[in-house]
Amino acid sequence: MRRRVTKAIFPVAGLGTRFLPATKSVPKEIMTLVDRPLIQYAIDEARAAGIKEFIFVTSRGKSALEDYFDHNPVLEQELRKKGKDGLLETLKATDMESGAIAYIRQHKALGLGHAVWCARRLIANEPFAVMLPDDVIAAEQPCLKQMVEAYEEIGEGNMVAAMEVAPEKTSSYGVLDVKEDMGSVVQVRGMVEKPDADKAPSNLAVIGRYILTPSVLRNLNKMKSGAGGEIQLTDAIAQDIENDRPAYGYRFRGERFDCGSKAGFLQATVAFGLARDDLRNDLANYLESVVQMSKAAE
Ligand code: G1P
Repeated sequence: MRRRVTKAIFPVAGLGTRFLPATKSVPKEIMTLVDRPLIQYAIDEARAAGIKEFIFVTSRGKSALEDYFDHNPVLEQELRKKGKDGLLETLKATDMESGAIAYIRQHKALGLGHAVWCARRLIANEPFAVMLPDDVIAAEQPCLKQMVEAYEEIGEGNMVAAMEVAPEKTSSYGVLDVKEDMGSVVQVRGMVEKPDADKAPSNLAVIGRYILTPSVLRNLNKMKSGAGGEIQLTDAIAQDIENDRPAYGYRFRGERFDCGSKAGFLQATVAFGLARDDLRNDLANYLESVVQMSKAAE
């Protein structure tokens, strides 16, 4: 029987230069959507999908991430003393079972493929997930859970989350060469990292959720740098296809926000704010007044 997906790798070593100066001292993954850091959204999604072990690939300057998933006895004691049970409850989301979380350093910024490869010794002979916290996905059923269910049905190969993007945007994504389109699942003939629009095999792009087999890690042992001079995860998955191992794209149900960009981050802030009972009215009224004012100014 196929092994369940219980481990997830979170590549969080990036410098976050697009958000400087904020990211000079705050890791990008700690930046906040409403009142929860980006990484919390990824961890919640992973947990909902049955992930039990969380592997962070970090770099210098990311200690705030480690502290975030640690207990803070002084804060907890203070909240308990003041009877702030609601706040104590919200802290529970940051609780990690001892030993469930591991940190590996990526010593050189050599690309996403290299970051994932850095975690290779923590992955045994089992399929594992990779989650990019920049991609925040609002969905009724968490995206990774949808994928795990689809993967268990297919029972083989590698799977990536996929979404149609505007054809002129392919150079920002891994792009799928579709062999057979079965609706929510597509079988893939090849994958290209960040192709120019005129060279892209389709406009079906890879979004930052993967379920991979250890053969991808073996491919990464030998992988040379690809697009942007970096070692690419896309290339290691494409190599698996060339070695006759199947790969699938999964069109998830949900809305994806690119929180690696400022505009995407702001959109996510609005969307998650509007989804909250305690904020919806105030925020909606404000947005409405802004729209009216800008219409009046036209
Ligand atoms: C990474 C991957 C790319 C994927 C994208 C999704 O690129 O390399 O294949 O489409 O994430 O967000 P990055 O955005 O880190 O440059």
